[in-house]
Amino acid sequence: MAPVDLYDETHRPQFHFTPQRNWTNDPNGLVWYAGEYHLFFQHNPRGIRWGNMTWGHAVSPDLLHWQQVRDAIEPDELGTIFSGSAVVDWRNTGGFQTGSEPALVACYTSAGSEAPTPRPFTQSLAYSNDRGRTWTKYAGNPVLDHVRGANRDPKLIWHEATAQWIMALYLDGHDYALYGSRNLRAWQHLSDLVLPGASECPDFFPLAVDGRAEEERWLFWGGNGTYALGTFDGRAFTPQTEVLRAESGANGYAAQSWSDIPASDGRRLQVSWMNGGKYPAMPFNQQMSIPVELTLRTLAEGVRLCRWPVRELEQLRAWKHVFRDEELAPGRDLVPGTGGELFDVELEVDPAAATALGVWVRGLDLCCDLEQGTISFLGRSAPLPRREGRVVLRLVIDRTSLEVFADQGQLSMSFCFLPEAADQPLAVYARGGAARVTRLVVHELQSVWR
Ligand code: FRU
Repeated sequence: MAPVDLYDETHRPQFHFTPQRNWTNDPNGLVWYAGEYHLFFQHNPRGIRWGNMTWGHAVSPDLLHWQQVRDAIEPDELGTIFSGSAVVDWRNTGGFQTGSEPALVACYTSAGSEAPTPRPFTQSLAYSNDRGRTWTKYAGNPVLDHVRGANRDPKLIWHEATAQWIMALYLDGHDYALYGSRNLRAWQHLSDLVLPGASECPDFFPLAVDGRAEEERWLFWGGNGTYALGTFDGRAFTPQTEVLRAESGANGYAAQSWSDIPASDGRRLQVSWMNGGKYPAMPFNQQMSIPVELTLRTLAEGVRLCRWPVRELEQLRAWKHVFRDEELAPGRDLVPGTGGELFDVELEVDPAAATALGVWVRGLDLCCDLEQGTISFLGRSAPLPRREGRVVLRLVIDRTSLEVFADQGQLSMSFCFLPEAADQPLAVYARGGAARVTRLVVHELQSVWR
């Protein structure tokens, strides 16, 4: 089948990653090397539902146009291949490098087995000396024995100050641990920590506050899209905040950030699994989120994580519909004349006399309740931030997903949906009184498959 046919099925996202065929869940092994973003993904190469976990693999020059290449890491006698991360071993600490270029090293969970030999979950390595195209499992696997429960999802980061690799690992319940290694092969336990309410898929990295490199916080991230900010001394993470929520939608899960983004770029980039989407009669199942840039900003309530779609998305903007200073009266929706289905929407509204306002997205109601101070979609609500009284939203809309970013990204919500039959793909409304749309720009996006 020609690629165009394969990627143009009714419910195929047009600028979010999906596997050509079959199941995916968590993003894995996110690493940048030599001009390519790598996206490995939990994959069932043989079925439309979860199972036979393998690392699928795609590469992209720009985080949007992904080319799926051959599966990277396949099940073996230690188990199927669960989630994990990848790094560039610049200093050849692991000794895996064969040529003149550094090896890419992946660290994943070997998910054990019940029979014939019962084996628990352990952590293993694989490496590549050809820019990620082929992978060899380390002969000494596993590199970290079973610790507890279904321990899993190792995330690696190089810690320059103590010249060691750090592994953040999920243990059990809400418990996580940090391990350290000089050579990727031998790991020592450094500390334990609890992230109340969270489980699975940790991430752990420093971020500058308000872009000031001299003021850095470490961020510990849990699978459910919550995080804590704190300090790290090379052994232990000491939280300075309670657990905070970064993902407030119904479908964002198991996010991971890219390793080895060049210093000249300097961004911390993250992608999530949009857990729970429905794709009836499609050859694939599940999709990734739009990649976002993570920043820490000082807000009224303290330093908080903000998530914002990567600037590369703007390259897909093809046409725009612009409205300024439009009165929005109840019963008189603002309808950009479009038959499109892929949008990047920038909306700023002064609520004025309205008690509620929102956007019909393919017949589904994204509603800001101004009396309650909430924003909701498909039954999920979150506190709505306002900028000098205004509601400031960015909506990223693909065939089967809506991602909402409020103000500067201090609120983000990821949703999957199946479009309903609607007269208009988009309409902005007010209720209870008139509002004023100070600015609305509806960008129609191009598919990455055209
Ligand atoms: C999270 C998760 C991980 C695990 C993987 C298995 O969605 O359960 O903890 O490694 O998926 O596919």
